Amino acid sequence: MTAVEQKFMGRGSLTEGFGLSTEPLPLEPYYSREFFELEQKMIFRRAWLYVCRAEELPEPGNFVVKSIHGTGVEALITHTKAGRIQAFYNSCPHRGSIVVKESAGKASRFSCPYHRWTFENTGDLVGVPDEENFFPSMDKKNCGLAKIATDVWEGWVFINLAAEPEVGLEEYLGPAKGYLGGILYRGAHNPVVYTAVLDANWKTASDAFIESYHIPHIHKKTIGTTFASRLNPYSRLIGARPLGTHRTISLFGNPEYTIDPRNRVEALGSMGQEGKSVIAADVSEEATRFRAHPAINPDRSEHWSMDINQIFPHLHIDTGPGSFWTHQFWPIDEKTCFYEVRFYIDEATSIQDRFLQELFICRVGEVVLEDLANLRFTQRGIENSGKGVMHLQDSEVAIRHALTQVIKWTRAQTVKEALA
Ligand code: FES
Repeated sequence: MTAVEQKFMGRGSLTEGFGLSTEPLPLEPYYSREFFELEQKMIFRRAWLYVCRAEELPEPGNFVVKSIHGTGVEALITHTKAGRIQAFYNSCPHRGSIVVKESAGKASRFSCPYHRWTFENTGDLVGVPDEENFFPSMDKKNCGLAKIATDVWEGWVFINLAAEPEVGLEEYLGPAKGYLGGILYRGAHNPVVYTAVLDANWKTASDAFIESYHIPHIHKKTIGTTFASRLNPYSRLIGARPLGTHRTISLFGNPEYTIDPRNRVEALGSMGQEGKSVIAADVSEEATRFRAHPAINPDRSEHWSMDINQIFPHLHIDTGPGSFWTHQFWPIDEKTCFYEVRFYIDEATSIQDRFLQELFICRVGEVVLEDLANLRFTQRGIENSGKGVMHLQDSEVAIRHALTQVIKWTRAQTVKEALA
C-alpha cells in the first residue's frame, strides 16, 4: 500500500476532524411543516442565496428572472447601464403586477404590461402614463422597483432577502472565500442545464449529492468502477473539511479504471485522445491551470476524482479533473423541491471533442437520473421512520455537518451567531 493509500485508508475520523458528535441525527427536519417554515424564516430570509453566474448577464442590459422557490419571491436580476449586477423584486410598485414575463433577455428599460409604468434597468421609474392624474403625494423617486440586496463573488451572483442583511457576502462566505478564491471557472458561459421538481425535501435531495457511500450500490452499472475499487470498495472519501458554515469533500477515483471494451461508444470517443476520456483529465493547458488551484484535489491524491464544495444553504460547486458543475436545491414545501444541475463545458473545437462532450452529458445525465429516481423512496421512508433518527457513517460527514448547520441557523437569534 502506498503512502497515499495509507493516508486515506488509515486516516482518522473525518467526523471528529469536523468537531462533530457521532450520535444519530433527527429525521424530523426532512418532513416537518413547522421546520420548513422555520427554515424559510431563519435561513432563506437571512442567508445569502446563490441565484446565477455573472456570465448569464454578460453585458449591460442583460437580465434574468429567477424564482426564489418557497419564499414566493421572483427576482429580476439586471446588468445595469453602470455595469452593476442588481436584483429587484419583479413586482410593479403601481399595483403589483409582474413587470417582466420573460425568463431572460436584453433591455435597457422595462415596461409593466398592466398600465405601462416604465423603469430603467437601474430600477428607477421613468414613465407614468397620465401622470397628472396621480396625486402630488406620489413621489416618482420613491416608486422605482424594490431592490434586493445583491453581491457578486468571482462570478457567483448572490442575493439576500433581508431588508438589511446582517452581514455582507464576504463575511458570509467566511473561510470558503479564501479556500475557493481564484478558481478558473472554465466554460462558465456555456452550461448544459437540467431542471426537475422532486418529490423530496430539499435536504433529502442535497444529501444524495454529498456522499459517495451509495455509489457502489445505486450506480453499480454506471460509475461503480470509476469511484470504487478493490482498494476502496465502499468509495470512502479521501478528504473532507469544514469551511465555516460551508464544507468541502474529496471523492475517491479508481486509478485502475479502464474503459470496458464492450462500451464501444466510450472507447470510440476516447480513441487517440490520451488522458481525455469522459472520466479522465483534459490535458489542455487551461485544464492544467484549472487543476493547479489548491482547492482542486486539495490533498494532491493520485486517487482523487472530484471535489464537492457545498455553499450553505443549497449550492454545490463540484470540481472535477477538467471542469466544474453545480447542483442547487430550492425548497418548495417540506416534501418538494426544485432541482437544477448545470454542467459547464467549453465549446468543442473538434468533432471528437463534441462527440466526447455529448457522451459526457449522456453519461452524467444517466447517473443523475439514478440518484433522482431513488429520492422519492428515501423521502417516503424518512416520513415513515419508526425511530425518527438516522445513523451516519464517517463518509457521510458532509450530511452531518450540513444538517447540524441547518439546525444551528434555525436556532440562532442573529446571523453572526449562526456563522460563529
Ligand atoms: Fe404596473 Fe399598473 S401594475 S403599471
